[in-house]
Amino acid sequence: MRKARLVLDKDYVISSIDRRIYGSFVEHLGRCVYNGIYEPGHPAADEEGFRKDVIQLVQGLDVPIVRYPGGNFVSGFYWEDSIGPVERRPKRLDLAWKTTEPNAVGLHEFASWAKKAHTDVMYAINLGTRGPSDAQRVVEYANHKGGSALSDWRIQNGAKDPFNIKLWCLGNEMDGPWQTGQKTAYEYGRVANEAAKMMKWTDPSIEVVACGSSGFNMPTFGEWEYTMLDACYDNVDYVSLHRYYGNPHNDTPDFLASTMDLDAFIRTVASICDTVKGKKHSKKQVNLSLDEWNVWYHSNQQDQELYKREPWGTALPLLEDVYNFEDALLVGLMLITILKNADRVKVACMAQLVNVIAPIMTRPGGGAWKQTIYWPLQQASRFGRGVSLLPQITSEKAGTKHYEDVPFVDAAATMDADGSVTIFAVNRDLIDGAELACDLRSFGDFKQVTHTVLHHDDMKAVNTEAAPDAVKPVDVPIDLKDGMVILPAASWNVIRLIK
Ligand code: AHR
Repeated sequence: MRKARLVLDKDYVISSIDRRIYGSFVEHLGRCVYNGIYEPGHPAADEEGFRKDVIQLVQGLDVPIVRYPGGNFVSGFYWEDSIGPVERRPKRLDLAWKTTEPNAVGLHEFASWAKKAHTDVMYAINLGTRGPSDAQRVVEYANHKGGSALSDWRIQNGAKDPFNIKLWCLGNEMDGPWQTGQKTAYEYGRVANEAAKMMKWTDPSIEVVACGSSGFNMPTFGEWEYTMLDACYDNVDYVSLHRYYGNPHNDTPDFLASTMDLDAFIRTVASICDTVKGKKHSKKQVNLSLDEWNVWYHSNQQDQELYKREPWGTALPLLEDVYNFEDALLVGLMLITILKNADRVKVACMAQLVNVIAPIMTRPGGGAWKQTIYWPLQQASRFGRGVSLLPQITSEKAGTKHYEDVPFVDAAATMDADGSVTIFAVNRDLIDGAELACDLRSFGDFKQVTHTVLHHDDMKAVNTEAAPDAVKPVDVPIDLKDGMVILPAASWNVIRLIK
């Protein structure tokens, strides 16, 4: 048994938790929208063509916000194509994903879906091929009450009430050579500044997210954040971070250590925000929106073959990673890292929601099921509320191929308004269980203590339509009297101490 120790004190708080850290992402990509959330003719489809079985699974995740409609897709997207009578909407080539976009689902339909799924929309505007004026126009169309040409157009299209979208992305990954309309940091910073100004003049209640560099390992990283923020700091609220991990060489200890990188990434971007703040003698703090994060690598090869077979198709099964048990462990570790940075990460969107690198899978005409990664997200979203406590963790450590001093046990803890505490803990050790000694010195008594464990003996075990429950959390007995919790080898644990 490994030995680890966790000290929590109710007076030691990192920050209140912004619920939007449990957000998600729906892009017009692959089968996320078409044959994903939307499949008219499916036995579970509602009157608008949205699958009710999928909505139910989304509700189960308690997703507070969903980024939409891209991603790379948005950088060539004309929002006007997606409104008005469906039969008059144009089909367009999507240069980002080399597919054809039918525009059958657009702004109005997605806003309606979001209501049904009990979530809010985080809308991304195109700053690739378009500019500040188009950004302002979509805010006016979506959020202005009425009495202007654009807001009246929305009303004419059937939405009397404004959509009231509160959070807007100023483009997507604008430093990436793969992006339609790639920009330099200065070009982007200027455009983002003017777009943000005009959008906020139209609706002062909105918040906006500026694009950070598309990756920690991009040559543009760092300089991009500094230069673009220097140009738009006063008018933006968040900087975006995107991070995906994979295990292509089947080195699981190294894969599970990837959150060392995520933590460094988050802290580095926060420090650049603060450098610009200092340089500008500003009182305002710009926070972080980790608006794409997940595991992504399983489908890479398959996608290359798909493109060769079917260029410019619609609803191609792109980016359909089938997630295994070890992916769920990494997702748990990523959630722990997000919680431990709750003072700066105010928005985070698992990319994506359905079929495309997603916790929910569907079969056209068939079922909908939970992938392994559904579970840690669901439990964190449901129980990780209130404040994020400062976890003092002592654990044995080991090095991996790319990381030094990786603790076997990592954990985050949250406390609700009523004093109930939830501990999220992962034991990275693939062989040995760990005894986690919990010192909960200041909390007093709890009425009930529960412990669920997500574990599978096969790190590569997956959930399928035929066997949807192969990997899922189970309740295990716990007796916290002596403060000791057993974390099985390779496990995600949720310990709830209820007042
Ligand atoms: O989520 C898939 C893609 O990953 C997004 O479209 C893009 O922003 C990122 O590169």
